[in-house]
Amino acid sequence: MKFTIQLASALAAVAPLVQLAKAGPVLKRDTNITDPQVLNYALTLEHLEAAFYKEGLSNFSAADFAAAGYPDWIYGRLGQIRDHEATHVQFLTTALQTAGAQAVNACTYNFPVSDIKSFVSLAATLESVGSTAYTGGAAFISNKDYLTAAASILTVEGRHTAWINSAILHGAAWDTAFQTPLGLNAVYTLAAQFITSCPDGNAASLPTLTPYPSLTLEGKPGSTGTLTFSAQNNGSLFVAFASGIGAPAFQPIHNDSKVDIPSDLRGYVFAFVTSSNGTLDDSTTVAGPAILDVGFDASGNVV
Ligand SMILES: *[C@@H]1O[C@H](CO)[C@@H](O)[C@H](O)[C@H]1NC(C)=O
Ligand SMILES: *[C@@H]1O[C@H](CO)[C@@H](O)[C@H](O)[C@H]1NC(C)=O
Ligand SMILES: *[C@@H]1O[C@H](CO)[C@@H](O)[C@H](O)[C@H]1NC(C)=O
Ligand SMILES: *[C@@H]1O[C@H](CO)[C@@H](O)[C@H](O)[C@H]1NC(C)=O
Ligand SMILES: *[C@@H]1O[C@H](CO)[C@@H](O)[C@H](O)[C@H]1NC(C)=O
Repeated sequence: MKFTIQLASALAAVAPLVQLAKAGPVLKRDTNITDPQVLNYALTLEHLEAAFYKEGLSNFSAADFAAAGYPDWIYGRLGQIRDHEATHVQFLTTALQTAGAQAVNACTYNFPVSDIKSFVSLAATLESVGSTAYTGGAAFISNKDYLTAAASILTVEGRHTAWINSAILHGAAWDTAFQTPLGLNAVYTLAAQFITSCPDGNAASLPTLTPYPSLTLEGKPGSTGTLTFSAQNNGSLFVAFASGIGAPAFQPIHNDSKVDIPSDLRGYVFAFVTSSNGTLDDSTTVAGPAILDVGFDASGNVV
């Protein structure tokens, strides 16, 4: 993929920045990542979201939503989200230009959407990933005004996530008490699957981003899940389940591709295959993240 850039700094792209609770150095900001690079990373995601809603809401009309059984007002609300994402694109582009920096342009995308249901489901995923991206990206921002702007966008992305998951999908509006802060490479791995190609000039404005090998995980908390990944499996690998800001939960992979999924996981959980039984970062990540979307009811039970 054109957008892929060489690996320069392990710290730059620490897998998820989830080890705060271990008081490790994982949240230390890489001073080599500049604010314009972080803003361009955010802009890359905003371009993707803006294109997704623009395309989806021109693919499907208000009448299509009504025919598919959605209440009338859903379409208008999704239009408001589309407009927010377009405004975020405009805002970040202007902020970068005002700072004398190049702003990345939109890429071409390929969204796996075949009907309204898959559109709504992907909207929920993209908003959730956007929220984890801003949460994880905050540590890389130096300028306080940019940090305030990023926080301002983050809460709106978080509310988009909540509204789609609860008002449309009738699930939980949140995951746990904490949003998971994913690192740059982890987010980029998730975003890259929807990106077909990007303008040549974009890469020079971005931090070093290297997607990990892909991973899928089928299964539910409290059961044995099945992993699929293409990286070499030497029989001594683990799965790190990242959720919130505590240390991830590690489980050994057994029977070649099986893992016992901890029973207490809820909401969006990010699973990584690792070579380590206790550290999740670029140097230990073998594949992932896979998103485990654990729906739960008002009593906290998995549904
Ligand atoms: C950061 O940049 C400095 C100076 O350009 C360089 O010496 C150093 O190796 C870089 N650090 C990382 C982690 O890339
Ligand atoms: C829009 O429709 C096209 C053609 O069916 C499809 O390829 C694309 O994925 C759809 N995109 C969205 C976001 O709905
Ligand atoms: C894993 O392998 C062992 C020994 O071959 C077998 O007894 C067990 O049922 C397998 N477990 C799963 C979850 O496949
Ligand atoms: C297995 O592979 C991982 C990642 O490639 C590596 O870090 C680890 O040292 C290997 N372990 C053994 C026992 O070969
Ligand atoms: C992984 O680490 C846990 C404690 O952190 C330990 O109990 C467990 O035995 C380790 N598993 C393997 C396979 O090394």
